[in-house]
Amino acid sequence: MVNNILAITNRKGGVGKTTLAVNLAAGFAINYNLECVLIDADPIGSTSLWMENSKIKGLKVRRLTLPNSSSNLHHALHTWGAAVSNMALDCDIVVTDLPPIDIIIFTELLRQVRNVIIPVGLSSLEWEATFPLIERVISTFNENQETKGIIVPSRIHPQKNLPRDKIIEVLPSQWKLSPQISLRSDFQKGVESGNWIGETAPNSLAHNELNSVIDFIARELNII
Ligand SMILES: Nc1ncnc2c1ncn2[C@@H]1O[C@H](COP(=O)(O)OP(=O)(O)OP(=O)(O)O)[C@@H](O)[C@H]1O
Ligand SMILES: [Mg+2]
Repeated sequence: MVNNILAITNRKGGVGKTTLAVNLAAGFAINYNLECVLIDADPIGSTSLWMENSKIKGLKVRRLTLPNSSSNLHHALHTWGAAVSNMALDCDIVVTDLPPIDIIIFTELLRQVRNVIIPVGLSSLEWEATFPLIERVISTFNENQETKGIIVPSRIHPQKNLPRDKIIEVLPSQWKLSPQISLRSDFQKGVESGNWIGETAPNSLAHNELNSVIDFIARELNII
């Protein structure tokens, strides 16, 4: 297993996985001058579509759909993981944008990747969907001390204060809470114009928030 692979995932749809994955990958490439591969593992292919025409120095986009049904899911996911690991050997960092996945696939995924990043909003529905994943990372951590998880508060209303202390209190120690990504039209506009936020809204509040998240993740995962 290679350590420079980041899986952006959640059980829920529409929480901001693709928005985070694209901006994170582009940000690593530009801010830190890293060779980065962004893997679109979602069969819908929103990442590939988004980044189809953008040319970002140091960033390559590849499609490698995560298998979700197969008579031998374990084997299929192992093959997927091996292909991702192979790509990881030739670059500094791999960011994978995953579709919404169930707990069985998530458990298999944890055999292939060590770094899990989960964007999650403030609603109790989103937290309820997230806790089984958090617990699964803890049980994997007990077997493999290198498994790490980061929660990225996502699509948070800018006027709402995130109860960070309360969240950190209930998060197990293997999990870190990153700065937040707010609900901002600049994130939405980035998607529409097919580029990352550093290009579409440089020095905006959204760009600054993203940079804080990138710096946090880079520090926590010892990327820099
Ligand atoms: N921080 C944000 N501010 C404003 N809009 C956002 C933000 N994050 C995501 N969005 C918008 O919310 C929608 C869902 O975002 P996104 O596609 O990133 O989620 P996802 O978790 O990848 O969804 P899916 O499960 O369908 O893959 C998109 O229209 C996106 O532009
Ligand atoms: Mg997506």
